[in-house]
Amino acid sequence: MANTVLVGLQWGDEGKGKIIDVLTRDADVVVRFQGGNNAGHTVEIGENKFVLHLIPSGILRPEAQCVIGNGLVVSVIGLQEELDGLDAKGIDISDRLYISDRCQLIFAYHCMADGLKEGQLGENKIGTTKRGIGPAYADKANRCGIRARELQRPDAFRQKFYTEGEKYNRLFAEHGVEQLDLDTEWAKLAEIAKRLAPMVTDTTLLLNRAADAGKAILFEGAQGTWLDIDFGTYPFVTSSNTTVGGACTGTGMAPSRIDEVVGVLKAYTTRVGAGPFPTELDDDLGESIRQKGGEFGATTGRPRRCGWFDAVATRYAVMLNGVTGIALTKMDVLDELETLKICTAYELDGKVITDMPADSDDLARVKPVYEDIAGWCEDTTGVTDYEQLPELAKAYIDRLMEVINARPQIISVGPRRAQTFDAPEK
Ligand code: GDP
Ligand code: IMO
Ligand code: MG
Repeated sequence: MANTVLVGLQWGDEGKGKIIDVLTRDADVVVRFQGGNNAGHTVEIGENKFVLHLIPSGILRPEAQCVIGNGLVVSVIGLQEELDGLDAKGIDISDRLYISDRCQLIFAYHCMADGLKEGQLGENKIGTTKRGIGPAYADKANRCGIRARELQRPDAFRQKFYTEGEKYNRLFAEHGVEQLDLDTEWAKLAEIAKRLAPMVTDTTLLLNRAADAGKAILFEGAQGTWLDIDFGTYPFVTSSNTTVGGACTGTGMAPSRIDEVVGVLKAYTTRVGAGPFPTELDDDLGESIRQKGGEFGATTGRPRRCGWFDAVATRYAVMLNGVTGIALTKMDVLDELETLKICTAYELDGKVITDMPADSDDLARVKPVYEDIAGWCEDTTGVTDYEQLPELAKAYIDRLMEVINARPQIISVGPRRAQTFDAPEK
């Protein structure tokens, strides 16, 4: 397999975890390159359901080596819990999980600061996952973050943790909110550090040497294109580059090492948290898609907002990421609908536009222009081959690909590994 970057093309939760699991069959190394445990990537294998937050979804294939890249913000406590969860399910990670010595660490004070900021924003809040992502990336940019290398140097780690912790406690005191008990927190961290320290290494060397040796690398994106800090619906975004460039800066692999870019797309659209969403269905139909699609956050359990497929936003996302193939998920969720809608343009201030506006206030004002397309009204969950798909389902896929200017590569008709098949080359 070629070195492949996988990114979400919408607002996250496109089914990246499932597609990573399928693609890992042909990969040697799987690396996460941005974000943190705000991500929730679900993989269903038989009767077992796994939700990965920081550890690459490739970990569920015993042969795969997995890397937490330098671009992540890693919750020390969250990682410990995730390791325990995998252990309890009999997944052996020994000698195949590596943590970049350059990645930033998240502590309880980051999560508390995330909550404080959201509270201050009141009704303008972003609706973050409260996992401390924004504050941790802010510390990185402010050059006061603590990196994973410190897990191997207890004395320096302790000193930095107290310095930063006291700074945050002063902030909490100023705002009259509860402070963090640094001694109790440190006692926990010192123990976890001993467990994580052996996994910390220069993963940039590891990845480049693996590529030199002809191994196939799979880059697992988190969140989605419209949550990107530069290109997303700012300020209703996350704090990292979720788009393809993040795969290079978040791992230390050069662009010339990347061969393919798989964009994951849901057959409709969802979003969790606040921010503009032109094709949102705030009605019974939106609710029925939410129920049928199980659209509740894998990390926070929040109901996801649901709506029609937005080809305007997706076409831009395909361009931005240089997508070479689409993995289209959740086709089965549309099985019962007689008529489907695709948003092919927006109306903004009386003018029809066909490109996504960069500004969130503009995007909040657009009205979607829809094209109707006939639904297939057949159960697709048992389909194992593209040719078995109902003709109207194929027509829906063809039309989506035409309007977003991309080619289909993988189709998914259910949460399990087996409910996936390749789309034919045309
Ligand atoms: P991710 O964050 O992109 O990995 O996606 P999530 O795991 O947060 O959300 C996707 C949800 O859809 C999970 O519950 C998956 O098990 C499920 N899923 C993935 N692909 C399909 C599909 O083709 N059909 C159905 N019905 N569910 C799917
Ligand atoms: P995966 O990888 C969907 C959203 C939050 C919020 C915004 C900022 O599972 O697709 P943050 O905690 O990152 O500061 O929150 O981003 N968000 C996600 N939405 N899927 C995700 O990850 C998300 N990670 C963050 O809901 O709107
Ligand atoms: Mg998710």
